[in-house]
Amino acid sequence: MVANDDDQAKLERLRAGRPWFHEPGLPELLAETIDAGRLRFTADKGEAVRHGQVIFICVGTPTRTDGSPNLQYLESWSGPTPSAGRPCWPSCTGRSSRPPGAPFLATDRATAELIKHASNAFLATKISFINTVAAICERSGADVALVARGMALDPRIGVHFLKAGAGYGGSCFPKDVAAFAHRSAELGVDFGILREAPAMDVVRGLLAEGAEEVAYDPVAGDQAVDLLPEMKLAPNRWTASRAPTPWS
Ligand SMILES: NC(=O)c1ccc[n+]([C@@H]2O[C@H](COP(=O)([O-])OP(=O)(O)OC[C@H]3O[C@@H](n4cnc5c(N)ncnc54)[C@H](O)[C@@H]3O)[C@@H](O)[C@H]2O)c1
Repeated sequence: MVANDDDQAKLERLRAGRPWFHEPGLPELLAETIDAGRLRFTADKGEAVRHGQVIFICVGTPTRTDGSPNLQYLESWSGPTPSAGRPCWPSCTGRSSRPPGAPFLATDRATAELIKHASNAFLATKISFINTVAAICERSGADVALVARGMALDPRIGVHFLKAGAGYGGSCFPKDVAAFAHRSAELGVDFGILREAPAMDVVRGLLAEGAEEVAYDPVAGDQAVDLLPEMKLAPNRWTASRAPTPWS
């Protein structure tokens, strides 16, 4: 596999086997694949395009204000793609949408788009659902963690994405839920979807109310402080939960 990116700094990091985002097992997999000579990185698009039988274009597809996906990066990339009789898959959706080891499925483009958006909207719905259950638990005295464990015993429900918390965020769920909602409205289908509630919005809201916040995240803490320098970071969850409050 030959990978291309316009960002030289990212190419350097990847060549050194040091991804800039957290994904368990990825550094090991990267090192193994590079060492085996099965993956290299280049700034030369022509080299990357000439190499492959299948081309994955994995540029960002950020959300526009109306919820639709902004395809400008995708469209700007299609320039150097040669029509040398090669199948060209216009967008890479394989990472989070397809669990490792899942069978390969060939579809048309409309179906492929919907598999990604419907899968992520479904998982986001599970997160929002268990958060609503948590709100009910708080009032009824039930333990949401145990409710989730009990639900997960049923294989039709499963254990994943049933952890109550601040709500979903990250690069894909809010974007794909917005795109899914926008597309269904465009097609005249009413698909009532639960709203996104990422942790950063909760933190911003509390700061706006004058709260002093001590937060902890095992992976994304530093990035969160970059976004919100007013937020203090604790070295572990225990210190964060024991931070002094005005009433303690
Ligand atoms: N982040 C995820 O977990 C995830 C999971 C599944 C699918 N996806 C999908 O993958 C796509 C990319 O997501 P991402 O999070 O990796 O985005 P990203 O913005 O982190 O990465 C996109 C990369 O494309 C590069 N780029 C942009 N224009 C370019 C061009 N003309 N030539 C070469 N490189 C160019 C950028 O420099 C950047 O490194 C999106 O469609 C997203 O929905 C992402």
